[in-house]
Amino acid sequence: MPKVSIPRLAEKRANGEPIVMVTAYDYPAARAAERAGVDMVLVGDSGAQVVLGHSSTVSVTTDEMLMMSKAVRRGTETAFLVCDVAFGTTEESDEQAVATAVRFVKEAQADAIKLEGGSEARLSRIRAIVAAGIPVVAHLGLTPQTATALGGLRAQGRTAATASRIVDEAFAVQEAGAFCLVIEAVPSEIVAVVRERLSIPIIGIGAGPADGQVLVLHDLLGVTEGGIAKFVKSFGSIGEATVAAISDYAAEVRAGSFPGPEHQYAATPEAVDAARA
Ligand code: KIV
Ligand code: NA
Repeated sequence: MPKVSIPRLAEKRANGEPIVMVTAYDYPAARAAERAGVDMVLVGDSGAQVVLGHSSTVSVTTDEMLMMSKAVRRGTETAFLVCDVAFGTTEESDEQAVATAVRFVKEAQADAIKLEGGSEARLSRIRAIVAAGIPVVAHLGLTPQTATALGGLRAQGRTAATASRIVDEAFAVQEAGAFCLVIEAVPSEIVAVVRERLSIPIIGIGAGPADGQVLVLHDLLGVTEGGIAKFVKSFGSIGEATVAAISDYAAEVRAGSFPGPEHQYAATPEAVDAARA
């Protein structure tokens, strides 16, 4: 399979072929996503929560994002690799944003970076990063990095004011140069309007039908403990399977039944004698 490119993603939108994106935070997940044939892999800052145990995405650092991104890069061949930039690493200035984006390209060979928000300042960052030659995926609707300002982790675009703001911002991020847009937790009727107005591929999460879908890997695998968002579907129960496997291992160690003879090395009689001497 040839490497997925920006023109290929645009072609998929034009042909009505759904784009499949999934998050990954380490090498084995990247391998699994690659073997499953996904189009795009996202090193989401959701990794702050799902693999690093933070309570929100805002505390993750660029060094942490890069450690995850480099591992994912090593496992990714044909899928298009997008990396989230950490909160606080693009907010100060266009220069800061370009420097951050450059690190993901140089150190993790990211194909693109993803940037949340569509305010004037964010549009300026998108223009600056695109001008530096780095493709940008925009992210609108529920933007977890600024969820506190949005009133919490809740759906966006359900009121007249927020719905028209999302449509305006979507058009603006496309005009600023984003080649793709992720929309999170927005009613499908509003997303349908965005799709009519825009020509770039729209990837939805909690956004109904779109040109593509993205889910957090651990949510779809059924690893995440506790409640999951309304828009998540678990396609596995890997969390339970993991606990069961570790429990079986613990029980066999405690019972003395693991390791068995088949897990042990044999020594020559001379080696045993020498060890005893
Ligand atoms: O961090 C993440 O996983 C994301 C997706 C939910 C789009 O931004
Ligand atoms: Na994210």
